[in-house]
Amino acid sequence: MKAVGVFPAERRFEVVDHPEPGIMGAMDVKLRMLEVGICGTDKEIVRFEYGNPPEGSHYLILGHESLGEVVEVGSAVTALMPGDLAVPTVRRPCSQLTCAACRGGRQDFCFTGGFTERGINGRHGFMAEYIVEGALNLNLVPRKLRDVAVLVEPLTIAEKGMTQLWQVQQRLPWTQNGPDQPRGEGLRAVVLGGGPVGLLGAMKLVLEGFETFVYSLSPPGSDLAGMAAGFGAKFVPAETVSVAQMAEIVGNIDVVYEATGVSSLSYEVMKYLGTNGAFILTGVPALKGPKPVDADLLMRNQVLKNQVVIGTVNASKQSFADAIADIGQFYQRWPKAVGSLITHRFPIDEVREPLAGNAGGIKSILTIG
Ligand code: BGC
Ligand code: ZN
Repeated sequence: MKAVGVFPAERRFEVVDHPEPGIMGAMDVKLRMLEVGICGTDKEIVRFEYGNPPEGSHYLILGHESLGEVVEVGSAVTALMPGDLAVPTVRRPCSQLTCAACRGGRQDFCFTGGFTERGINGRHGFMAEYIVEGALNLNLVPRKLRDVAVLVEPLTIAEKGMTQLWQVQQRLPWTQNGPDQPRGEGLRAVVLGGGPVGLLGAMKLVLEGFETFVYSLSPPGSDLAGMAAGFGAKFVPAETVSVAQMAEIVGNIDVVYEATGVSSLSYEVMKYLGTNGAFILTGVPALKGPKPVDADLLMRNQVLKNQVVIGTVNASKQSFADAIADIGQFYQRWPKAVGSLITHRFPIDEVREPLAGNAGGIKSILTIG
């Protein structure tokens, strides 16, 4: 079968002919892959800056944001059947008995660093015609989400971040709104970055009732202002509005959701985080040497304003379930905005263009099946 293989030692990547996997265990599920999203992590992997092939393999099959259709199930699988749509989680646990996180099924919090990630570290990913995955790592997707469910994985980043936000903000007893009242009502959120992670995070914040501002540069030809307005957020252009001016426009910033991976911008914005505010970091900058920050002001504010910084990576199965439910909500409320996140679709043979070319736009998707 066709798959996208990255050969780090030879510094090349190409469509390879890989043996088609088959069901081995009673809990295995075989999927025909329909679509795989491409993100910054994939681009780093094809620049050979990140990622590792499985032990014993010269190449890594790329791809971790995916949607597949079940074609065959092992004898003990009851939750899925052929024809169902499913999205797999990405991270698999380490083997250390002492890792409480992995032993508890929460490898997204792995202590040892010995975890693997499909399509990223030590395990083949989803840019292939077929994959086999354990049923417990798969999340059933309603058929009506066929066209947008490839966005589930990038949305899980926001889901895990928001879950932690509310856990931390339990320290503010008055924010525990009733079940019918959105928890973010009356609060203000700033999203840094108008890429897929930022825009999906902004949709989640709007859904939660926040007054939401997206602060970003605009890639040429994009209409981020129109897009943000389309789902009830406000766009603030970073080309013409300074961070200080943006903070002035917003007022007390209760939450920052960072989705740029730019450390200098993030720590500049952190100076303006509001009283009792939380700053959620999701980007992974390359290590380019120390950069100055206003450490006195940051520390002073963090103490005197009861602030919290939350770093968050990867996501649990629960966050996938939350993302599937929420993408359904988004799609129902804002079908146009959700649809317009996917700006390009490429067949697998043209994978070079979105990975190493100048596809531009917001989200590029590889269509496989
Ligand atoms: C993926 C995460 C993964 C992280 C680090 C991200 O692009 O969405 O699942 O944990 O990269 O490898
Ligand atoms: Zn990704």
